Amino acid sequence: MLMRIMRNVSLAKHSTMRLGGQAEYLVNIKERSDIPNALDWAAQKKLPVIMIGGGSNIIWKDSGFKGLVMVNKIPGFKITKVDSESSYVIVGSGENWDKTVAKCVAAGLHGIECLSLIPGSTGATPIQNVGAYGQDISQTLVSVEAYDTKQQQFVTIPAENCGFAYRTSRFKKTDKGRFFITSLTFELTTENPKPPFYQSLQNYIDHLKIKDFSPAILREMVIAIRSSKLPDPAKVANNGSFFANPVVSATKYKALQKKFPNIPGWPVNGGKVKVPAGWLLEYAGFKGFHDRRTGMATWHAQALVLVNEKAKTTSDLIQFRDRIQSEVHERYGIKLEQEPEMLP
Ligand code: EPU
Repeated sequence: MLMRIMRNVSLAKHSTMRLGGQAEYLVNIKERSDIPNALDWAAQKKLPVIMIGGGSNIIWKDSGFKGLVMVNKIPGFKITKVDSESSYVIVGSGENWDKTVAKCVAAGLHGIECLSLIPGSTGATPIQNVGAYGQDISQTLVSVEAYDTKQQQFVTIPAENCGFAYRTSRFKKTDKGRFFITSLTFELTTENPKPPFYQSLQNYIDHLKIKDFSPAILREMVIAIRSSKLPDPAKVANNGSFFANPVVSATKYKALQKKFPNIPGWPVNGGKVKVPAGWLLEYAGFKGFHDRRTGMATWHAQALVLVNEKAKTTSDLIQFRDRIQSEVHERYGIKLEQEPEMLP
């Protein structure tokens, strides 16, 4: 099939933060074979390429991109039974993630229901090892199929070779830009989810006095919690959590507790402590904070979500981000790391 390569396309439409310049060229990738074709086209013109999904975790610079943006629209959804307890689900990377979750839940499958309502494409989920409410995709992903620009061929990468950790993978680090993900295989089970659940989910379960758990019930609860805390990117421009939750040493955490007795923290590997960035922001005065100068704000129900109310440029966002980072650093001595990726 012939690809339609468009010129001078606004990139703001390809980021849920709705900011940024133009792409010199942009193409929708609708099938696997479009990838080597688009790469050849760009190579002939000596242009760099970037592949994106739904734009929910990316921010474009105001200078735009002088190259070819490839938008992943590769379809596909298939369930194959492994045995009475588990099934493989093979999904095209361009499929909307929440629709993928909905279909799996409708099929009675357990393993990704807590990842309901996360915006973006299915193919983007391995990049930052998408996670929420105690599940992340590294727990159920079997393998990723991708076009490897280094070997110039399609490859299958088992999940154990994806370098998954909290909010990261090899696709974000050592092999950034090398692979164009085309499909994902998950192994999901027919069993029902069991407690203990993630704290905020458990609080909701206790509140509603729910005793029986199924993937469908969990999906419903996660949707209710997320809708009450997080803005819908279709209505309010945002990229979800704007900073990762920082991990500090036990000594540092003790010192923080002395100064801020209510500071929450969760022990993680190596005796370290994960501190919720949302708390750091809220108690630095940034919950529901509207910055008149830049048109940016933090969400009223979750301080960790930066929203674009009236900002015109990515520099506005950067100015607001820098202000938050420096005030948080001054107050707690913690450097917050930006979570969405700044492109190019
Ligand atoms: N908190 C506050 N004030 C706030 C927000 C949070 O005090 O304004 C504190 C509370 O103590 C709360 C704790 O932070 O108990 C944790 O908050 P929450 O459960 O909302 O989770 P989070 O750590 O802020 C992470 C993910 C979210 C994910 C939720 C639920 C990161 C960076 N973010 O947020 O992911 O939905 O857990 O699992 O890990 C995303 O990545 O875009 C995203 C939304």
